[in-house]
Amino acid sequence: MRKITIAIDGYSSTGKSTIAKRLANALGYVFIDTGAMYRAVTYFALEKGLIANGKVDVDSLISSLSKIQLKFVPNPSLGKSEMFLNGDNVERDIRTMNVSEHVSQVAIIGEVREKLVALQQQMGEEKGIVMDGRDIGTVVFPNAELKLFMTASPETRANRRYKELLDRGEEVTFEAVLKNVRERDYIDSHREISPLKKAEDAIEFDNSDMGLDEQFERVHNYTLRIIASK
Ligand code: DC
Repeated sequence: MRKITIAIDGYSSTGKSTIAKRLANALGYVFIDTGAMYRAVTYFALEKGLIANGKVDVDSLISSLSKIQLKFVPNPSLGKSEMFLNGDNVERDIRTMNVSEHVSQVAIIGEVREKLVALQQQMGEEKGIVMDGRDIGTVVFPNAELKLFMTASPETRANRRYKELLDRGEEVTFEAVLKNVRERDYIDSHREISPLKKAEDAIEFDNSDMGLDEQFERVHNYTLRIIASK
């Protein structure tokens, strides 16, 4: 069966990765969560003291980019890959509120985006990939055969993220998570380079009131139809 490229973009905490992972498993495709890559660079910057008082030392981060090695390593027991930064598994470290609070500042840096987009394009060279992020259908794979743009209300998304953080034992308030979701929406969609926007040929998908199974069924059906038409 011919393999295609599937690009899933949208606002933070719209469940892009959950659907992308399930779809990739069903199709036997590779799943790449590009947010994890921006988060890993942010975690590196925090660890190296390149972010102080909420401000990123952009020049130092740019000159350190060659020292950042990112790799997705499959974890069969989780049915997904985990993010490794310079040989260390940072999957948990990159999901904290601290990283979420600084990642949009790192993602506006052109040099960071150039490096990560090049890596993402390499990963998708052979198709058979489901990639989620903010600029996948617009910049990374503008010729993707299937593009989805996921949305949901900020409150719904903050609620999902809040539960995830509580499950992981982080002490956060719902208000702080909602504020972070709104701030990231704003920065992600107003930045100069590759802002978050729906590709013209993307299918918009509001999942505020949709369960996971229904979302998966719909997306899976779109995919099978496209593959059959190739
Ligand atoms: O999907 P996520 O919430 O884990 O992404 C974290 C941040 O990374 C998000 O606020 C914006 C940035 N990002 C991006 O700019 N481009 C991508 N392709 C993926 C994520």
